[in-house]
Amino acid sequence: MAMAGNAIGLGNFLRFPRLAAEHGGGAFLIPYFIALLLLGIPLMWVEWTMGRHGGQFGHHSTPGMFLRMTGSRWGKLIGSLGISLPILFVVFYTYIESWTLAYAFYSITGAYTTEAVNLATSEPMMHTRQFLHDYQGVTPEGERVYFQSLWPAITFWLIAVGLNCWIISRGVSAGIEKLAKIAMPLLFLFAIVLAIRVLCTGAPDASLPDRSPWVGLNFVWEPNFMALAHFDVWLAAAGQIFFTLSIGTGSIQCYASYLKRDDDCAMTGFATAATNEFAEVVLGGTIAIPLAVSSFGLAATQIIASQGSFDLGFVAMPLAFEDLPLGWLFATLWFSLLFFAGITSSVGLCMPLAAFLHEAYGIGQKGSAAICGAFMLVLGLPLVLFLGHGYLDQYDFWVGTFGLALFAFLELICFGWIFGRHAMWTELQRGADLKIPRIFYYIIRYIAPAYLLVLLVGWTWESVGKEILLEGAPVKDHPYLWLSRGTIAGVVALLGLLVFLWSSNHSIESEEARGDV
Ligand code: ALA
Repeated sequence: MAMAGNAIGLGNFLRFPRLAAEHGGGAFLIPYFIALLLLGIPLMWVEWTMGRHGGQFGHHSTPGMFLRMTGSRWGKLIGSLGISLPILFVVFYTYIESWTLAYAFYSITGAYTTEAVNLATSEPMMHTRQFLHDYQGVTPEGERVYFQSLWPAITFWLIAVGLNCWIISRGVSAGIEKLAKIAMPLLFLFAIVLAIRVLCTGAPDASLPDRSPWVGLNFVWEPNFMALAHFDVWLAAAGQIFFTLSIGTGSIQCYASYLKRDDDCAMTGFATAATNEFAEVVLGGTIAIPLAVSSFGLAATQIIASQGSFDLGFVAMPLAFEDLPLGWLFATLWFSLLFFAGITSSVGLCMPLAAFLHEAYGIGQKGSAAICGAFMLVLGLPLVLFLGHGYLDQYDFWVGTFGLALFAFLELICFGWIFGRHAMWTELQRGADLKIPRIFYYIIRYIAPAYLLVLLVGWTWESVGKEILLEGAPVKDHPYLWLSRGTIAGVVALLGLLVFLWSSNHSIESEEARGDV
């Protein structure tokens, strides 16, 4: 449950439907499933096994785990990415999570409904878009209708950060396990109720038979091999696999480090991936796209999806629910579901840093929760204030896409090559309730690293202009974008330094001499 909670998140219900709609539905699913098979499942096994191995030596975060696997200080420095990436990830993730909390509240009050305000436009989508942009403070002052200041957004964000810190301060069993045991069944219940409701909707307007959830469902599942020729679809699909499975974040290893030496990794790792995929493809794919298609038609749904990462969830879904009887109730369920999905993931993303602070500097649960909270507040405030300048997009790209893929590549090299081919295969199989097919030996050692290398080089090549030199971004936004990048680099350097300082008086020999192992 805890592992599924870690993986299932906003990525499943917000990011996946939006990417699938944008990249051609069934066309997106082909590279998506290839990435799942060649990257997602093998890396899930690698991270579970790495975590269990590190845990046997008292390590619950990747610097120590990598030290054990590579026997070198460099391994620790590479492992430091497994604490800096998740804490940077959680900074922007918690902010989006707070929107879901706010929207659950506003679904009950009906604040964003078309009747709630008299805008000078009859286009319903303009209402929900205006509501979102006013809430985020993106609308220029003087043009705001729903919110005149950022205070509501700041308040919900502070509540989300506070809840995360409270759960972290309670530790793994009283905090995370309890949360997962309550939130995961609720999440599945809400999602199944919503999926059934969507499929029972039928075409709302008999004169427009194309506006039916079944047209949307068909779009998600109809294969289209033409799209495979486009590199960007492959990139988007692989990126989504990392995001949704929480791979490359160091949090899977952290959770797995609490396993016993002979606990199974193969079956449970596979079960984590399978549960996540059920939530993402079956439930996530059955709610947002079919509902949006039945309200707006396929072409308009694709346009909404291409306009921004979260527009489908926050702009289209409230309106789609408005068409249903008891729509406010289903909208509240939808946003509560998103919030539960988000919080079980964000807490998981804080755990690597909390575990490192404990093992390296002896800081307890409450202290770690306070430090994670400080990171979220100090780094998150500019993100809240400068959202309209593309500040968050920098985090999404450098942390949520490039960083995860880079760290996953380094993990595969350390595990498949430096740890050793016999050691890694034996460790993967130990205690396994499921026999891992031999083909995965070759996938882990050769195919997955090569796949990632091609993606990373391809990304860099394609992104030199657009991402690195900020081509196309308004010049007035450049200082904010550089501030965002500088902050990310600063946190990676700061946590790298903390790991370095720890490593200067800490080695495998010193661990053994002190009897830590
Ligand atoms: N794996 C988490 C998600 O999908 C981060 O949102």
